[in-house]
Amino acid sequence: MAKKINKKEESIYDIDVMVADASFEIYVDTILETIEAAASVRGTGIARRTHDYITQKMKEGKAIIALAGDEFAGFTYIESWGNKQYVATSGLIVVEKFRKKGLAKRIKEASFALARLRWPKAKLFSLTSGSAVMKMNTELGYVPVTFSELTDDEAFWRACEGCVNHDILLRTDRKYCICTAMLYDPNPPAISPKGGSIKRNNKTK
Ligand SMILES: CC(C)(COP(=O)(O)OP(=O)(O)OC[C@H]1O[C@@H](n2cnc3c(N)ncnc32)[C@H](O)[C@@H]1OP(=O)(O)O)[C@@H](O)C(=O)NCCC(=O)NCCS
Repeated sequence: MAKKINKKEESIYDIDVMVADASFEIYVDTILETIEAAASVRGTGIARRTHDYITQKMKEGKAIIALAGDEFAGFTYIESWGNKQYVATSGLIVVEKFRKKGLAKRIKEASFALARLRWPKAKLFSLTSGSAVMKMNTELGYVPVTFSELTDDEAFWRACEGCVNHDILLRTDRKYCICTAMLYDPNPPAISPKGGSIKRNNKTK
């Protein structure tokens, strides 16, 4: 018997969530404006990105876009850092009228799958001040970590320079800031029965 689709599910299935390519450049300015406007509403800092930077992510197949027909609905992108040992998911945004319908969850799941596919050995991380993102990260298997466990790739941290809270990061010698750091490690240390870490035996099934 066909599954009955409730109203919430019906509305999110009308939206396509896909990997963007160069043909999606027409949405880049809208994406940047939507991110900027959301940050000023929340009063939070953001790592500012340029039109060229986001377009490049699309060209490289590192961006996820959500469209309701031709209408922009949501976005995120991924990038590898530290010689591909780390991958960050960044710039998550859902247009206000499409929120609270599970769209961000679909976008996060798509970016997580894309990152795991492209860099299966990399640790995934996210720097966020939003509780919705923390919740979604937790569901995907991320755990909160200190900043010292993230990439030390200077190019990644340079993106924080445009954030209103950058002085905090500088003052703490990059140890703390407003954002919470979360990490997904594809190969975490195994846990012993007493809770301590033990060395993983890769031969054990
Ligand atoms: C954060 C944002 C992406 C969430 O988008 P969304 O499509 O409404 O999220 P979803 O409907 O997929 O909800 C995902 C989960 O987050 C929760 N959530 C959504 N908005 C929330 C909020 N404002 N506060 C707390 N939790 C929230 C939902 O309840 C859901 O959890 P559940 O499955 O346990 O019910 C969206 O509000 C947004 O674009 N905000 C502005 C930009 C932003 O904050 N980006 C993140 C920067 S790190």
